[in-house]
Amino acid sequence: MSQNARIAHPGLRQKVMSAEAAAAFIQHGDHVGMSGFTGAGYPKVIPQALARQIERANQGGNHFRIGVWTGASTAPELDGALAKVGGIEMRLPYQSDPTCRERINAGQMDYIDIHLSHVAQFVWFGFLGKLNVAVVEVAGILEDGRLIPASSVGNNKTWLDQADKVILEVNSMQPLGLEGMHDIYYGTELPPNRKPIPMTGPGDRIGDNYLRCDPAKIVAIVETHLPDRNTTFTPPDEMSQRIAGHILEFLEHEVKKDRLPRELLPLQSGVGNIANAVLSGLNQGPFDNLTGYTEVLQDGMLEMLRSGKMRMASATALSLSPAAMEDFLANIDFYRQRIVLRPQEISNHPEIIRRLGVISMNGMIEADIYGNVNSTHLMGTRIMNGIGGSGDFARNAYLSMFMTPSTAKGGAISCIVPMASHVDHTEHDVQIIVTEQGLADLRGLAPRQRASVVIEHCAHPDFQPALRDYVARAERHALNGFAGMHTPHLLDEALSWHSRYEREGRMLPKA
Ligand code: COA
Repeated sequence: MSQNARIAHPGLRQKVMSAEAAAAFIQHGDHVGMSGFTGAGYPKVIPQALARQIERANQGGNHFRIGVWTGASTAPELDGALAKVGGIEMRLPYQSDPTCRERINAGQMDYIDIHLSHVAQFVWFGFLGKLNVAVVEVAGILEDGRLIPASSVGNNKTWLDQADKVILEVNSMQPLGLEGMHDIYYGTELPPNRKPIPMTGPGDRIGDNYLRCDPAKIVAIVETHLPDRNTTFTPPDEMSQRIAGHILEFLEHEVKKDRLPRELLPLQSGVGNIANAVLSGLNQGPFDNLTGYTEVLQDGMLEMLRSGKMRMASATALSLSPAAMEDFLANIDFYRQRIVLRPQEISNHPEIIRRLGVISMNGMIEADIYGNVNSTHLMGTRIMNGIGGSGDFARNAYLSMFMTPSTAKGGAISCIVPMASHVDHTEHDVQIIVTEQGLADLRGLAPRQRASVVIEHCAHPDFQPALRDYVARAERHALNGFAGMHTPHLLDEALSWHSRYEREGRMLPKA
């Protein structure tokens, strides 16, 4: 029995055991809901103990594989460890682990890439089958059994509610100062009984500070003292600074036109270095009193809170570099006044994103000349990470932007192509495309007008002549009666840039 002050519930103290013993509650074929969102708040020892058990079972000729459901990406200790031993039958919803990616693309592991706001409700609706076990990291357990959430909330409320068995990791490295930062909304009902979510501002608190779980379902508790993944961001380079510059200029223009208030509207910023650089740009920019309504709170947003440029931010997870984490821990009382961490079905809820008028900024892999965006598949077939929350935000945002460098792989690939090789965000959901070359504002433009703006503002000069030539020939083809003039394409050629890259390692033929 543990004397750990973080486990204040006397009955639950008796459930403390080793990671090995806890992992033994998970059986072949189980659907396991794990905590974790962009490398924060994921269980750190049970997945590794489970991976060892899976490896032993499979070496002994058994077949032991599980379904792994999470909030979003986790870390090598979870996705990496389970994927390495071939222990994952099916993974959802978002991952960014190299071993997972390799196995998915080799056909050895199934992956269902769904909108992050859909996951919880798909489980409530029964669309994904029964959730057998929840494995959730928490910062502590109160005397009455309520749980202090850790550095991410993700789908934990749903896992704790829906799973038959619950296993907790109580991580004493998760700061107790997190207590009070969370807002767990328990008011969601199933259709047809749903009510409006009572939130009209990004900082509104509409729920509880704690997660609830029936103590009778908790079969095991494991104590840990381990840090989150804590991703390091590269300092903004010239490429990302140019992208950030175009976005800042655009936002200033929108304020001048009275289409945005001076303090803008709540900002959503996607994962990765470019998104982080855009926030650094905004931190130096002319706007004050900003707010964030986002999914992941990265270094850039933390800096804005620190500088006072941003007055508050709502997210479902922190994703901080080690240096930013140090600052967060040193000033946690300051940040607790300014950060709200919510379940991902609320941070990414279409109703709220639409109501608040969020400005959404996400990375992409490629866009086509008509404004369709591919966020997930390299050359149309290989998964990179997943759609994450980009679709939740893009469709419902006040302004929906996608950004990328104009080329990839040393200039062999154009990120502006005749036809996207996979579409995550259709032309109907994409308003603004940004590369280091410039910004294409597609609002109010018909397809052929969009093609011209995308090519002239966003494509790299090395690819502009070929794109212009493609459009000109597609239009001639249509005018000759072989296709439509609404969205002209040469269907035999539309994806030839991608297939040439697969064959020759470059999208365009050698000059
Ligand atoms: N075709 C083929 N490969 C391409 C490519 C293209 N058009 N564009 C980029 N790549 C390659 C890069 O070369 C790089 O490969 P490498 O790892 O072998 O070097 C890889 O794809 C990643 O590119 P990078 O520019 O480093 O990506 P990023 O860190 O800026 O992330 C996404 C871009 C699209 C992968 C990322 O934003 C993402 O996963 N988005 C979807 C989820 C999302 O938007 N979440 C936030 C919502 S709230």
